[in-house]
Amino acid sequence: MKVPLLDLKAQYATVRDETLAAVSEVLESQRCIGGPKVGELEQKIAELSDCRFAVGTSSGTDAILNSLMSLQIGAGDEVITTPFTFFATVGCIVRTGAKPVFVDVEPKTYNINPDLIDRAVTRRTKAIMPVHLFGQMADMDPVMEIANKRDLVCIEDAAQSITSTYKGRKAGSIGTVGCFSFFPSKNLGGAGDGGMIVTNNEDVYNRLKIMRNHGSNPKYYHKFVGGNFRLDPIQAAVLLVKLPHLDDWSATRRRNATFYDERFGGTAVQTPYISADCVSTYNQYVIRVPERDSLVAYLREKNVGCEIYYPRPAHLQECFGNLGYKKGDFPESEKASREVLAIPIYPELTDQMKDYVVNNVLSYYDEL
Ligand SMILES: Cc1ncc(COP(=O)(O)O)c(C=O)c1O
Repeated sequence: MKVPLLDLKAQYATVRDETLAAVSEVLESQRCIGGPKVGELEQKIAELSDCRFAVGTSSGTDAILNSLMSLQIGAGDEVITTPFTFFATVGCIVRTGAKPVFVDVEPKTYNINPDLIDRAVTRRTKAIMPVHLFGQMADMDPVMEIANKRDLVCIEDAAQSITSTYKGRKAGSIGTVGCFSFFPSKNLGGAGDGGMIVTNNEDVYNRLKIMRNHGSNPKYYHKFVGGNFRLDPIQAAVLLVKLPHLDDWSATRRRNATFYDERFGGTAVQTPYISADCVSTYNQYVIRVPERDSLVAYLREKNVGCEIYYPRPAHLQECFGNLGYKKGDFPESEKASREVLAIPIYPELTDQMKDYVVNNVLSYYDEL
């Protein structure tokens, strides 16, 4: 048997005809920039996220970059975030000229530890960017308390967590803005790159829309220097076909997670911790294991897909060397990067496939 980490062909087979028809509609219309599909998707994602506004973007990365630029964050500013995240979170901060200031994660959720944020705030701090990792939202009440007290904006990096909730509130609806990614491996994934920003702030919404179009308003008159951050309407068409399935797909991911939680109970495998305040959408099911690297080699040999998210925290990346951080600065992030492993959780997994994954993980420890 072979169980990949993700099988996009299996999902595509369930929406193939509708997807081809929707893409064809865009091509026939030749409205290849903007147009009704982008507007419809924005409206639906705003509603789904309990937000008033949404702005489609060319990727999750550009959702973050546009947000930072629209919130006027740049040289001389500091943005607080976590080093245990995908590169884009931090890369975007640096690209604006601002300085990322890291705060370690909570060991159980891998999300930013709010108890450590206050001491990282300086007079240069402009924003906090919590990352809702693997489908679970960060502990947003204390994050927002600090943001409000210190007059900081909050950018939720919700790239992995569309429709996840914290105390019943949707990802993206709590901060100043929330950023989603439609990278194909996300719970709602396009046929290429795409992203979206949601907000309840009308002024911010207006800036985001102008910024995504080179800061141009009206056309050829530039208020500020923006970028081409536009969402491709072919991607919007594909995403509109998939959107009605999103809740079912996330519910199936949760059922798969429960299956694994039960089977790994009482073994060497530490299963994901989900806070009582959160409903996770399990973009990834991340176990914590001893001897992680040799388990990876064993699983690959047995054709079980797995991946390390993330093997090196941001503060130890070569390109951020000038920030002055060193090994040992963020022990929980560093420990997590040595111990975590994502195993297949996608909705099309069969019981037989899940059995195969569990049996191989456990047989590795039996053989030790
Ligand atoms: C936490 C996080 N932030 C940002 C991004 C960037 O999104 P994209 O790949 O759509 O540019 C991702 C996507 O992988 C992500 O996981």
